[in-house]
Amino acid sequence: MPEISFSPDDSLYRDRDKLSEDYTPEDIVGRDDEIQRYHTALQPVINGEDPNNIFLYGKTGVGKTAVTRYLLNQLQHDSETYDIDLTTVELNCEGLTSSYQVAIKLVNEFRDSDNRLSNTGHPMHEVLEQLFTEFDDTGGTILIVLDEVDNIGDDDSLLYQLPRARSNGNIEDARLGVIGISNDLAFRENLRPEVKSSLAEVNIRFPPYDAEELQEVLNQRVTVSFYEDAIADGVIELCAAYGAKDGGDARKALDLLRAAADHARAKDATIVDEDNVAEARRELEREEVMDGIADLADQHKLSLYALVSLQHNQDDPSRSKDIYERYQELCDISHHDARTLRRVRDFLGEIEGLGVIESIQRNQGYPEGKYNAYELGHDEEMILAAMSDLLNEVGIHEDVADVVEKSDRISA
Ligand SMILES: Nc1ncnc2c1ncn2[C@@H]1O[C@H](COP(=O)(O)OP(=O)(O)O)[C@@H](O)[C@H]1O
Ligand SMILES: [Mg+2]
Repeated sequence: MPEISFSPDDSLYRDRDKLSEDYTPEDIVGRDDEIQRYHTALQPVINGEDPNNIFLYGKTGVGKTAVTRYLLNQLQHDSETYDIDLTTVELNCEGLTSSYQVAIKLVNEFRDSDNRLSNTGHPMHEVLEQLFTEFDDTGGTILIVLDEVDNIGDDDSLLYQLPRARSNGNIEDARLGVIGISNDLAFRENLRPEVKSSLAEVNIRFPPYDAEELQEVLNQRVTVSFYEDAIADGVIELCAAYGAKDGGDARKALDLLRAAADHARAKDATIVDEDNVAEARRELEREEVMDGIADLADQHKLSLYALVSLQHNQDDPSRSKDIYERYQELCDISHHDARTLRRVRDFLGEIEGLGVIESIQRNQGYPEGKYNAYELGHDEEMILAAMSDLLNEVGIHEDVADVVEKSDRISA
């Protein structure tokens, strides 16, 4: 007998995949105003008129992609009824950091696998010509969705070219509409005025969800993903509150629900309860904090490392001047230029903003006066594991040698 084996179970989930990102819900709840405006903006398509260029913006997880797919599915369906020749292409720009890369991807969306453009080596104007040829060969109405288009950054020439392609005579046999979607609110503000005016003929903002709307989103998904009565009272409210607190993000709320259900399943439970949610939440927050630490700049990591190594052997919070002394020591060892005490205090403040450390106001009275002291907001193994790259560079401070051995196992 093997000690461990796998066997399917079907006590909790009706269909776990329907909690995943790829699933397009059949009903969209709580976005009536946005859907109404989007619908109006798409109306010219079904009339056989030139489509509007549309720009959607809002933070992550607020339904931009889901609503777009939902409406375009419906539009495709209705186009058949009214004999409109409609082609929609959805391209996610994640990892595409220039107009050039996006243009090549777009050309290839229209081509068979044996006829694709390679990723480099073509002048941009040729790529555009090929793209316009693909549009003309396809004909009819073409809607191009550029999701997460903020990835292309400043290099937005394509966003200038596409909306003008017809009026500039680059395409003749097709009507083109561009739907740009951005998670980054600043991206739209920073577009060149000539790009903004043509790409964003219609702007639709997707605001964050409130807790009540998130409950609706979750409840609707629960019915397709879980068996009846699989979700205990209070679970939906907890998951919705979590998503609402964190930017009104439906993805976060759904991810938490799925993680909680996975915990329940691991225990062979047939009901997901509040304890499962609490456990899953701790885990997700832990991952978030670890990502936050890993993304810190070296100077911040050195400041944090200084605090971790000091705290290891003491219960009292560390004063910034002691942290600074240890920080200088670490800078010395690792050949980093030490910044001023004031800068290090700023670093600590920013790290506190991530929830990694906590500050405590102390008042010693005269002559010391008020000062800040710091302690860790998470366990030291986790923090050290999240900055293993810096530890490799700086080496391991003797104060924390025993912890690092443990943290290696965490990061492995
Ligand atoms: N109004 C809604 N009704 C049902 N599901 C939704 C709704 N809004 C978002 N979702 C779901 O939440 C997740 C995140 O939404 P998504 O559209 O990907 O957000 P965005 O594109 O704004 O980052 C997806 O799984 C999506 O299906
Ligand atoms: Mg999206």
